[in-house]
Amino acid sequence: MTMQEIEKRRLGKTDFEITPIGLGAMEFSGGKGFTKYVLAAVPPATQDEVIKVALDSGMNWIDTAEMYGFGESERAVANGLKAAGKSPGDVLITTKWFPMLARAKSMRKSAKKSTQKLAPYPIDLYLVHRPSSVSSIKTQMNEMAGLVDSGMIRAVGISNFSMNQMIEAHEVLAEHGIPLATNQVHFSLLKRNIETNGVLDTAKDLGVTITAYTPLGMGALTGHFHRNPELLEVMPRFRRSRLRGRLKKTKSLIETLESIALEHEATVAQITLSWTTNYHGETVVAIPGATKTYQAEQNAGAMRIVLSSEQMESISAQSLEL
Ligand SMILES: NC(=O)c1ccc[n+]([C@@H]2O[C@H](COP(=O)([O-])OP(=O)(O)OC[C@H]3O[C@@H](n4cnc5c(N)ncnc54)[C@H](OP(=O)(O)O)[C@@H]3O)[C@@H](O)[C@H]2O)c1
Repeated sequence: MTMQEIEKRRLGKTDFEITPIGLGAMEFSGGKGFTKYVLAAVPPATQDEVIKVALDSGMNWIDTAEMYGFGESERAVANGLKAAGKSPGDVLITTKWFPMLARAKSMRKSAKKSTQKLAPYPIDLYLVHRPSSVSSIKTQMNEMAGLVDSGMIRAVGISNFSMNQMIEAHEVLAEHGIPLATNQVHFSLLKRNIETNGVLDTAKDLGVTITAYTPLGMGALTGHFHRNPELLEVMPRFRRSRLRGRLKKTKSLIETLESIALEHEATVAQITLSWTTNYHGETVVAIPGATKTYQAEQNAGAMRIVLSSEQMESISAQSLEL
């Protein structure tokens, strides 16, 4: 299949068409902010290359947030797009307002700052990063609608919202004639609670896209650390302790993924991503992060893999809730 043949999906009920996999840019936080406990800094030249390879390999959107390195990631995304020769509008940009103890009225100021950091690329999709604002969901969504009306953003989403919170956000936006584009949540072969807590079914009912974050389990679902466990020693503390506990528990899942990867001449990461973005039809898209160009290329390549329903089910049967 050629690059042009990667089938795009409608983002919720918006007019945006996105590829099933986009690039997660938390990795470009520069080793700053809370992410330093999870991710080491990636050299700026490598960030530019990763962005270029991700786009050249077929991805058409990038996910960032004001919280990632306190703006470092947003700046890195703009720099990478400039280095890749992209014009505003070529690539869909998602960023997020961080609402911890914040009022909805601070959203406009945050969106302005993010717009400056991302310039000249506009914010296409703006998300509430967590349901932790001191303002009600109604007030937050009314504020978001105001940002759409004033042309600062084009679409609205939420992240880490429960089923009921998602329904409320959807209803308030609907009063403004704005669709809720996405709920970005943790979903992977190690985290499947959206299948039982109502989030997935409600998203399907409402026509809201689920964006799966941490789809590779921070690398646990690539087989890379099963093959090279010594690499854990040199990674930031939080990620090391997370992964250390997971390698043993995921051994049999990785073996299943490896045997299916062999059949497709693919990698474990690609099989993981193909499962994640196809097991629930078109509802789930994913935003794997990448720190090296080969990863971005592989992850984009996952969009060309078609798993049989038997392969999907045998992977599903080995998944865990960690
Ligand atoms: N909304 C939220 O609350 C929220 C929370 C977390 C993340 N996110 C978003 O989701 C994105 C992805 O999540 P994540 O970074 O937590 O985890 P992830 O995508 O599960 O894992 C990414 C890491 O796996 C490794 N990797 C990627 N592709 C690989 C490949 N093909 N082969 C081998 N290793 C590979 C890389 O690490 P190494 O090279 O270091 O091994 C990369 O940094 C973030 O960038 C961010 O945009 C959102």
